[in-house]
Amino acid sequence: MLPDPNELAGRVLCQVGDLAATKAKDVIIKNGDEQHSIMVVEWKGEIRAFVNSCPHARVPLNMLGDTFFDLTGSYLLCTMHGAHFRPTDGYCTRGPCRGKSLQPFPIKVDGDDVIIVQDAD
Ligand code: FES
Repeated sequence: MLPDPNELAGRVLCQVGDLAATKAKDVIIKNGDEQHSIMVVEWKGEIRAFVNSCPHARVPLNMLGDTFFDLTGSYLLCTMHGAHFRPTDGYCTRGPCRGKSLQPFPIKVDGDDVIIVQDAD
């Protein structure tokens, strides 16, 4: 089951400084007995978050810690079968799930904190 941001609003996901090395961070959040992986990514100074679950086979995109970007640094890469996703909106431009999207996860940046906010929908 996917994480409900409305149940987690206000929780700090990570610090902006955590993104310095790879422009991304894999954050595990716990909600009761459930555990979820959220990827927080920085692209051209903008910080966004997505549920770390590839729409192709519903597995995490990363295999190596906080590495999510491809070698060009322009796309988020699923290491399982090579799908490429735009870091701006999570849309898959190449690979077996082309045309589908990562699920965005609502956040705000407050100082150095990346904080979960309520879903607007
Ligand atoms: S699981 Fe991501 S491309 Fe297949």
